[in-house]
Amino acid sequence: MTKPSKKLGLLTSGGDCAGLNAVIRAVVTHATRRYGWDVIGICEGTHGLIYDPPHIVPLSIDKMDSELLRRGGTILGTTNKGDPFAFPTPTGKVDLSDDIIRGFKKLGLDMLIGVGGDGSLSILKRLADKGGIKLVGIPKTIDNDVGATEMSVGFSTAVDIATEALDRLQPTAASHNRVMVLEVMGRDAGHIALNSGIAGGADVILMPEIPYDIEKVAEHINTIRKNGRNFSLVIVSEAVTTKTGKKISKVFSDQQKRLGGIGDYIGQQIAEKCQAEVRVTVLGHVQRGGQPSAQDRVIASAMGVHAVDCLAQGKHDRMVCWRYRRVEDVPLTEAIATYRDVELDGPLVATARGLGICLGD
Ligand code: F6P
Repeated sequence: MTKPSKKLGLLTSGGDCAGLNAVIRAVVTHATRRYGWDVIGICEGTHGLIYDPPHIVPLSIDKMDSELLRRGGTILGTTNKGDPFAFPTPTGKVDLSDDIIRGFKKLGLDMLIGVGGDGSLSILKRLADKGGIKLVGIPKTIDNDVGATEMSVGFSTAVDIATEALDRLQPTAASHNRVMVLEVMGRDAGHIALNSGIAGGADVILMPEIPYDIEKVAEHINTIRKNGRNFSLVIVSEAVTTKTGKKISKVFSDQQKRLGGIGDYIGQQIAEKCQAEVRVTVLGHVQRGGQPSAQDRVIASAMGVHAVDCLAQGKHDRMVCWRYRRVEDVPLTEAIATYRDVELDGPLVATARGLGICLGD
């Protein structure tokens, strides 16, 4: 009698980013070709498991062509709302964890690969611990703030897009003698601003990790003008605070607060202090959609293959990571416990300072 094939569940959770489909392709291809497993896609993160029957997509290898590798978003859908342990309903918060675990068991799944950021990975670990689920996590987030990994899927593409935005803003800034302010994402960390600011030739990079003095920013821009250059590029991370230490955010119709607006605040102050013409661009979700960069495709593919190998070797409760030019895995607890923001004594802050970029301090 042939041994029944193992069943692997796969889900994407949290905000989408470029490269998620490349992960899906790698997981399905390797799990099927190398180990003969069936891979079941769970729709919209763990939400798909709440329903009876669970919302799923069978993932067959013949659909895993290179078109998927290039495609933005996630074919499984995702959600960044509603912690299943305290899920908001019109009548209050309810714990849906038992329903999710029941859904997982109902599908007859032997193991799970969850692709998510720090929040999603913490939730998935709690569910896995409670339900005895063999879980391996893959880090994804444009913010690149997941601990224990140098790179998360989606970050490289977001940096490329923000860099391209600076490339496009520079000629129009020069044509009109303007200061261009570009607000980029990064909920708590300034990695996108720092990396694309260096790559895109920003004059000022403001990140939540370095408190800024607007007088220093204005002085830097004025010096550039005195020295004969008629334009400046300023990149601001959305998590930068106002003078009083407040993050600028808006409450949306789902009652969630989301960051946005610090670019306008900084831009107004620069306009006043430098008597300059300022324009502000908020890049927003453009950073998350579209085709993944080559680097994201490579990292996503390597992480997908490695996650499958971990499970095949009987390893679980691990997160795949990218470190020292290698794909490795670490205990999930280690990844969740260590948040990764911009290192103040790290090489990129030194690079920016070496290039004479004003970091606001
Ligand atoms: O965490 C990823 C991220 O894109 C942040 O950079 C941003 O603040 C947030 O998600 C936006 O969330 P939403 O998709 O709910 O607008």
